[in-house]
Order: sequence, then structure tokens, then C-alpha cells
Amino acid sequence: MSDKLGCEGPATSPALCANFVHILPGEKLTTNFNATSQLIYVIRGAGKTIFGDVQIPWKTGDFLVLPVGHESTHFANTEADSAFYLVHDEPLLRYLGAEATHPRFKPTLYASEESLKELDRVEHEGEAVNRSRVSLLLANKAMDQTLTVTHTLWAMLGVLPEGAVQLPHRHQSVALDLILDCEPGCYSLVGTKIDGDGAIIDPVRVDWKPYSSFIPPPGYWHAHHNESGKKAHLIPMQDAGLQTYLRSLDIRFVLPGK
Ligand SMILES: [Fe+2]
Repeated sequence: MSDKLGCEGPATSPALCANFVHILPGEKLTTNFNATSQLIYVIRGAGKTIFGDVQIPWKTGDFLVLPVGHESTHFANTEADSAFYLVHDEPLLRYLGAEATHPRFKPTLYASEESLKELDRVEHEGEAVNRSRVSLLLANKAMDQTLTVTHTLWAMLGVLPEGAVQLPHRHQSVALDLILDCEPGCYSLVGTKIDGDGAIIDPVRVDWKPYSSFIPPPGYWHAHHNESGKKAHLIPMQDAGLQTYLRSLDIRFVLPGK
């Protein structure tokens, strides 16, 4: 997106860069971004990451966050290939002309069994049907002010139940939304204005595809619909850690019954 943003690339939003990473069985990939934060979601496979003197095993469905400090080497197990969705904030550092040097948190793994268990719990809470979203927000104890996954990044594992309409909301952070599993009939409506009933005026419809991503721009209203008859999952990743700290997130929701 760097051409459209008028910035040096690669960049997916002014502050963030999203990547699909594919590592063949038994192979490795070394990265070294000038970024304060890297957030990885393991789409498939299993393996380990070496970060300085720390070894971190991972598998499908795990989230991993890494601070600045060392190059990272990701090893895929020999049995199968591995794929990641990886978001980092190097475009922000490039814009600032700054070099990231001080780690602000420790490498942190969020195991899939833990997050799926918690997501299942909130999904089955009595009032879940009335919530604006059914999801798990990833947090890091080091971010006691923003309550986000890193000081710049924000991430959520969400479920969109069958028949659900997640009412419109908007925020100044840019979402780099990864769709996980979905059947045809899952889509988002996106637009700049809402009417008096809380419906998006002249929306653009974005149909979901498994393991694809889309970007609701800052300030745009967006609503998620599931008319597929099967539940679907999504992982929005945003620069909302930074926006929360700057007090500029400006998140707003249309309330049920409005
Ligand atoms: Fe959003």
C-alpha cells in the first residue's frame, strides 16, 4: 500500500506492515526489522523461534509477540510447512527517522489452547448475543496503561457467530484484519457516515475469504455480517496501542436498538 500512502515501502498502513510468511518443512527464515513490536499469528504448522538466547516453540493458532533487540530466526518442523501472518511497526520508525533500540516488553507467547478456551467461555456467556463483539483481546502485563498486546500494537481473536450482525463501529487506528475460517455469506460493510438509525450510508461490501486480509481505513464505520450458517473467526491487528496512548483512538459504537 506504500504507493497509495505516499510513503517508502513496504507498508500496509502509515504505521504498520502486514506480511504473509511461508516456511517450507525443515527450513528457516531470519528477520531483523527496525520495529518496536512484531506480532505473529501462526496460520498453520509448528516450529520454534530463536530470539537472542530465548527459544520459543509455537504451533497453529498461537500468537507470539517479539520486541526489538535481536534478529529472529523461525524454524519450521520437518513434518510440514508453516505459515504466519506477521505485523510489525517498521513503517512508523521509518517515518520518524528513528531506530528502535530499547525493548519495552519481553517475548510473549499466547498458546492457542488458552485463547480458544477463553473465547469459548465468552461465546457462551448469557449476554454474549447482545455484545458489540464476541472476542478475546490480547494483553501484555507490561502495558498497564493501554492494556494492549504491545505498546504500539493491538490484537483481537474474534468469533462472528452464524446469523450475527456486529453493529457498526469506527476508530482512528487502522485495522489490518485477517480472516480465518469463513463460509460464503460472511462480509463487512464499510462507509464514512451512518444514518439516524445507526446504519452505514452507501456502504462498500467486502466479502470475506479464508486467510485473506482487508483494511478498514481510519475513521470509517464498519459492520460485520455472517449470513453463512456457520460461525467464522477473524483477527484484527491495529496500531491501537499507540493510538490509545496518544488518546487519539476515538472508538465509537452504534448501540443495539439505535
Ligand atoms: Fe474495527
